[in-house]
Amino acid sequence: MRKKISMIGAGHVGEHAVKEMLARELGDIVLLDIVEGMPQGKALDMAEAAPLLGYSYFAKGSNNYEDIADSDVVIVTAGLARKPGMSREDLLEKNFKIIRGIAEQIKKYAPNSYVIVVTNPLDAMVYTVYKVLGFERNRVMGMAGALDATRFRAFIAMELGVSPEDVQAMVMGTHGDLMVPLPRFASVSGIPITELLDKETIDRLVERTRKGGGEIVSLLKTGSAYYAPGAAVAIMVESIIKDKKRVIPTSVYLNGEYGIKDVFIGVPVVLGEGGAEKIIELDLNDEEMAALRTSAEHVKKLEEEVDELFKKFA
Ligand code: NAI
Ligand code: 2OP
Repeated sequence: MRKKISMIGAGHVGEHAVKEMLARELGDIVLLDIVEGMPQGKALDMAEAAPLLGYSYFAKGSNNYEDIADSDVVIVTAGLARKPGMSREDLLEKNFKIIRGIAEQIKKYAPNSYVIVVTNPLDAMVYTVYKVLGFERNRVMGMAGALDATRFRAFIAMELGVSPEDVQAMVMGTHGDLMVPLPRFASVSGIPITELLDKETIDRLVERTRKGGGEIVSLLKTGSAYYAPGAAVAIMVESIIKDKKRVIPTSVYLNGEYGIKDVFIGVPVVLGEGGAEKIIELDLNDEEMAALRTSAEHVKKLEEEVDELFKKFA
């Protein structure tokens, strides 16, 4: 049966994710935005590309939440993007208001969906959505680790002059400067990168990964990354819709895993027809565990701020 996917937010990330999901024939897609006409225009443009690119699914542009009814997967990219000099946290209050309203609509019209949040600050926004929806934790997740890991993989590939396809890497923690790239778990066709690169080089690539979002912002000047983020969303949705059970770092609500509780944070997750089906618990060393704890403490503070915003705008 054809699946239904809804994308809330037809900006840069939303449109690129939709284009990639159509190319992979994951389902029919509703592309919804607050701006009238724009999602309809983008969806029509993509439909007109279908005969050339050979996909058999359509996107429908919309400004009306009734159109997302009975979606299998809903993705949220609506909100403001970071501008140069603006931290992800600066976005908190503005995007909280937007995201809370959207979550209420998802709860009303797509109560059986899997929900993937992309809007920043990521871990705080997925927490906001989770609180409004009240869904089981396997149905609400955040996209960030998939992006951070693909950046780390790309940087390793560029450094070694090898195919990015052959590079694997895991990045855990929050989405931001406190993320936790894990060189010990990075490899090139099974060869640990510690066999191929010296410590100084690895440290440099880790630092570049941590600052990966900011590097693109400072180059683009008018917004943030969207090619890799769009692809990262599509890969997650594909794993759920096709029950591929790929292991993808995903922000999920931890309930004691890694000794962390009640915090959304990126960890390796098996994504399949049951959404975030299984959290893989790695045996982290002291340094890695300390970095993950610091990351979790940072998110916990943001979640407390979100709790305050719920009260302030009750
Ligand atoms: P954008 O500005 O191109 O698109 C945002 C869209 O949201 C706009 O079309 C806007 O009209 C729409 N919008 C605003 N309020 C809305 C509402 N109430 N209802 C429906 N639509 C609404 O921004 P872009 O580049 O697509 O980024 C979107 C978000 O994703 C930002 O918060 C950005 O920081 C975040 N992001 C997160 C990443 C991650 O790894 N988690 C990666 C890349 C971006
Ligand atoms: C990124 O990492 C802005 O969070 C976004 O590119």
